[in-house]
Amino acid sequence: MRESTRITELHGRRLLLGVTGSIAAYKAAELIRRLRKLGTEVQVLATEGAARFISATTLATLSGRPVLTDLFDGSEEDTWTKHITLGHWADLFVIAPATAQTLAKLANGFADNMLTATVLAARCPILVCPAMDHDMYMHPAVRLNLKRLQGFGYHVLPPGYGELASGLVGLGRLPEMDDILERMAALLPDELRGKHALVTAGPTREPIDPVRVLTNHSTGTMGFALAKDLVRRGAQVTLVTGPTLLNTPEGVRRIDITTSAEMLEAVLAHKDADIIFMAAAVADYTPIESHSSKIKKQEDQLTLRLQRTSDILAQLGKLRRDDQTLVGFAMETENGLVNARKKLREKNLDWIILNNVSEEGAGFGTETNRVTLIGRDGSSFPLEVMPKQEVATALLDRILTDCA
Ligand code: CTP
Repeated sequence: MRESTRITELHGRRLLLGVTGSIAAYKAAELIRRLRKLGTEVQVLATEGAARFISATTLATLSGRPVLTDLFDGSEEDTWTKHITLGHWADLFVIAPATAQTLAKLANGFADNMLTATVLAARCPILVCPAMDHDMYMHPAVRLNLKRLQGFGYHVLPPGYGELASGLVGLGRLPEMDDILERMAALLPDELRGKHALVTAGPTREPIDPVRVLTNHSTGTMGFALAKDLVRRGAQVTLVTGPTLLNTPEGVRRIDITTSAEMLEAVLAHKDADIIFMAAAVADYTPIESHSSKIKKQEDQLTLRLQRTSDILAQLGKLRRDDQTLVGFAMETENGLVNARKKLREKNLDWIILNNVSEEGAGFGTETNRVTLIGRDGSSFPLEVMPKQEVATALLDRILTDCA
């Protein structure tokens, strides 16, 4: 099936799907299947009532994640805060189908299960798709609850008209799948739609001879995580990367380079991007002469003569427009804040992300990172140790709030 262009924007987005105890709950299976095909990450929050209509095993298998029902469901460590982390994780929260009972709970701020508690914690748009019998849907209590929910800023997709499970004909059917998907896509956060982002990542390799190089331990993970999160926010992303084994995040235009000189050339070709993250670990020095044949061992000692490479970020800082956002990294082992602030000033940046390689859980080759974001005005925001993908989200949340 060809998807409309709007629906394809659900790709890479993070969705919370609330499923409640309506006969239409079985349609959640098809909804999840369509979403997963589109490349959407789906976390199902089902009420106990939903389990009477569709099994948690079906929902978990299709979504690829365990279904959460009770407020205390989740892994040991995060069980008490799961509703908060999920509420902050999601780009969109959709409750389909939503029963009269769940609407009543939401209209009164109940937090008695994972679904209702997470609604209260969510920072993203919330879409409610009621499905019930005609007379229930028309009852003044239900109408009042829906009005209250709209008053909270929630979005309501009204049910369709037709044959209902009771055999009656009326309003109450869960809308067609395409209509739900279209409405979801229209509600996605698109703060970077129409913007071009340039990200650099990974190490560079400076050739000494045909078999040897000067390089560093960068794996590219932080830059790739930033590129992925920028796509999720609607940006058109160009990723210039040194050698790495990482897979290209979907939707990203990737340019592979090897040396710092090649990185300079690729970056300058995209210097007009609206937002630039210089996350690559670029070599500061390169061999003065690169031997065309392998250097054979002779003396006990060998001296390599190196020369400075161009500082790509400093060049971008000189060429920058006022409406660009330029973000650099500072990899330090001592006097982090002082050195990072100096780099920010000298390279004419808006932000610098301080990476202290000697700290536990930070630096090259780790799954996690601990960074401090430093602004042009001198402000600093230390982040907790987190997986690099979450670091990317937290950094962009902060930087984009400031740009708004
Ligand atoms: N950078 C760059 N071009 C270089 C070297 C570094 O664009 N030739 C960028 C990095 O991508 C990073 C920032 O400059 O965003 C800071 O890199 P870092 O290695 O921490 O600092 P340097 O400026 O190289 O200074 P030093 O090595 O003396 O700490």
